[in-house]
Amino acid sequence: MAVVYAVGVGPGDPELLTRKAERIIRQADVICAPTGAAEAGSYALSIVEQFIDRSRQEVLVQLFPMLKDQQGLDPFWEEAADQVAQRIAAGKDVVFITIGDPFLYSTYLYIHRILLAKYPEIAIEIVPGISSILAASAVSGIPLGLGGERIAILPATYENEELKRTLEEFDTVVLMKVSRVFDRVYAVLKELGREKGGVFVRRVGSGDEEVHFDLEALVGKKLDYLSMLIVRKNQL
Ligand SMILES: C[S@@+](CC[C@H](N)C(=O)[O-])C[C@H]1O[C@@H](n2cnc3c(N)ncnc32)[C@H](O)[C@@H]1O
Repeated sequence: MAVVYAVGVGPGDPELLTRKAERIIRQADVICAPTGAAEAGSYALSIVEQFIDRSRQEVLVQLFPMLKDQQGLDPFWEEAADQVAQRIAAGKDVVFITIGDPFLYSTYLYIHRILLAKYPEIAIEIVPGISSILAASAVSGIPLGLGGERIAILPATYENEELKRTLEEFDTVVLMKVSRVFDRVYAVLKELGREKGGVFVRRVGSGDEEVHFDLEALVGKKLDYLSMLIVRKNQL
């Protein structure tokens, strides 16, 4: 029976793909790749392009526009899930590739929910990937957790009070999706006297990787969606 594989392709460096991810991508009949904007192409696809044989494998780039209101995206998830289900019904193995890990804030999870509800008979296998969080921690030399320390991972879009509470309660805080709210988050860090304790990492693992410890220099700039902030309380 054909299977849907949700495969994490790591943060950007093809060498950070697992051997299992590479094997499953090479063997698949269909590769589905998400993109936030049709003209931008799929970042996940660019990571694995070298493992794909387009003469033998179908590549479906699926559009999920970046809307504030997730409700508005329902028709896009539905259509993507239906496209996957059609291929499965034809006996084809489908791989859905996602940046980092498929079960950590990934686009795939929206489709996963629909597949479970609408097509419960379809077999699904999750292939974990190296999350951008792990790669950002490694490249910046900032460990995520030591001994009994507590780690929080959350979208930076939370209100200031929630961000402050989290920064006070946890030893390491990873703020995803920070690009659009960076200035506000920086102001929160400054208020807590923590503005020197963070690192901003952009497109880790790719040729466009950037690591910034001077957060003030980023205020007022237009930042890349594929970036995060790691804030740690204690030095090693
Ligand atoms: C939808 S989430 C995807 C997370 C992904 N599933 C993972 O495990 O890394 C998108 C957010 O992940 C982070 N991200 C993903 N890839 C990144 C990269 N290469 N470099 C830095 N941050 C990245 C950014 O915070 C971005 O806003």
